[in-house]
Amino acid sequence: THADAPVLRMLMFGKPGSGKGTLSTKLITKYDVSQLSAGDILRAHITEGTQIGKVAEGIMASGALVPDDIMTKVITSKLDPLRNKHWILDGFPRTIGQAKLLDAHLRKAANPITLIINLDIPDDVILSRISDRWVHLPSGRVYNSSYNRPQVAGIDDVTGEVLTRRPDDNPETFARRLRAFYDSTSPLLAYFGSPEARASTKMVTLTGASSDEIWPKLDQIIASEFRLKPRGAITKT
Ligand code: AP5
Repeated sequence: THADAPVLRMLMFGKPGSGKGTLSTKLITKYDVSQLSAGDILRAHITEGTQIGKVAEGIMASGALVPDDIMTKVITSKLDPLRNKHWILDGFPRTIGQAKLLDAHLRKAANPITLIINLDIPDDVILSRISDRWVHLPSGRVYNSSYNRPQVAGIDDVTGEVLTRRPDDNPETFARRLRAFYDSTSPLLAYFGSPEARASTKMVTLTGASSDEIWPKLDQIIASEFRLKPRGAITKT
C-alpha cells in the first residue's frame, strides 16, 4: 500500500445481474483486497441452516428484500474484523435505512467509505445474462456460457464441483428483484451523491453493455487512485 493513498473501502451498486459479483471477484484475484457479498453471505446462512438463513430463504426465493436490521447485523459483524484493511462490499446497502445504519457504524470506527462504483447496465442486457448464469454456491464464483465460461462445461474451475442455477434466477423472480432495485436501491445514489457530506468518497458510474468495457475502467481507478499493487508484485523496499 502506498503511504498517502486512501484505504479502499468500496461499495458496488448495480441492478441484479449487472456484474457486481463478477467484478469483485476479478478485483480480489488481482489485488490484496477482501470481498463481502451480501447475497453470498445470505446463501451461506441458508446452506448452513442458521436462524438468519431460515428467515432469508423464503424472502430471497420471492425476490423481496431481507429486513434492514437483520441485514445490517449480518454485514457489520463481517466488516468489523476488516478495520483499516482494503475491502469491497457488494449488495449492501440496498435501502436508505441500511445506508444510514452502515454510515453510523463506519463513522464510529473512523473508517469512511472511500469509493462508490455504480454499474449502469441496460435491463435487456442483464436479462439475457441471468438466463445463462451458472454458480458455484460455496464460493460465490459465477459463470456464463458466453462470458466467463468455465473450463469444463458445468464444472467449477477451482474445485471441480458441479455448478448449479440460483433459485431466484427465473424470469418472474428476476422481474421482482429488478423492481426492488428501482424502488429501494436506486434512491441510494442520491443519498450517497451529496458531495459536501462526503469529501472523502469518490463516486463513479461505469456504463457499458459489452463484456470487457467495464473491467479496464474499474481496474484503472483502483490502480491509480488507491495505488494498490497487484498480488505477488515485486516492490522495492
Ligand atoms: P444478490 O445475491 O446480491 O443478487 P443481486 O443483486 O440480484 O445480484 P446478482 O448476484 O444477481 O448479480 P451480480 O450483479 O453480482 O452479477 P453477476 O456478477 O453474477 O441478492 C440476492 C437476494 O438476497 C436479494 O434478492 C435479496 O432477497 C437478498 N439480499 C441481498 N442483499 C440484500 C440487502 N442488502 N438487503 C436486503 N436483502 C438482500 O453477473 C451476472 C451474470 O452476467 C453472470 O452470469 C456473469 O457471468 C455475467 N456477466 C457478468 N459480467 C459480464 C460482462 N461484462 N459481460 C457479459 N456477461 C457478464
